[in-house]
Amino acid sequence: MMPELVVLISGRGSNLKAIADNIKYGRLNAKVSAVISNKPGAKGLEYAALVSAKPHVLDDSEYPSSQEYDLALSKIIDKYTPDLLILAGFMRILTKDFVKRFNNRILNIHPSLLPKHKGLNTHQRVLAAGDRVHGATVHFVTDELDTGPIIMQAEVPVLENDDTATLAARVLKQEHILYSRAIQKVLLQG
Ligand code: GRF
Repeated sequence: MMPELVVLISGRGSNLKAIADNIKYGRLNAKVSAVISNKPGAKGLEYAALVSAKPHVLDDSEYPSSQEYDLALSKIIDKYTPDLLILAGFMRILTKDFVKRFNNRILNIHPSLLPKHKGLNTHQRVLAAGDRVHGATVHFVTDELDTGPIIMQAEVPVLENDDTATLAARVLKQEHILYSRAIQKVLLQG
């Protein structure tokens, strides 16, 4: 049976688009059954059609607490039978209960070589720190932010005249290759 993914997004959705392309060209053997955005109007919702997945909006401004939000999120996910939940630019911190419920089945992509530069504004912080190497990490989600077991990483050089935009673009290009590879690896390991 084809493994199923539910992809969670908040915005642009370029990682979702890359996953869709990789499925189409046979580089990732999986099916996206649903795309869920916490923001109405997220650009990435448009890409759900590429994989014939149902787009859902679960607007977080309508929920008073993370507990209630994550409960509603679980209810949508329970309509499907995902093998993995794929966080692709999903800008929310999941509650402990949610993480426990989907234990070892949630993957995230983070734009740094973890454990370096957890949290936001990673490209800016890499430049400020004078790092010569940067990259992206796919890891399992645990209830500590950007800290779960690492599945795969991709490195890029930091060049002399980089700014955050050039550096972010170089990393993003690698993210689009890395995420599908890491998903495939986890699926093969069962
Ligand atoms: C990516 O840089 C990802 O690493 C981070 O958020 C960004 C999402 O980009 N978690 P997109 O929405 O997939 O284009």
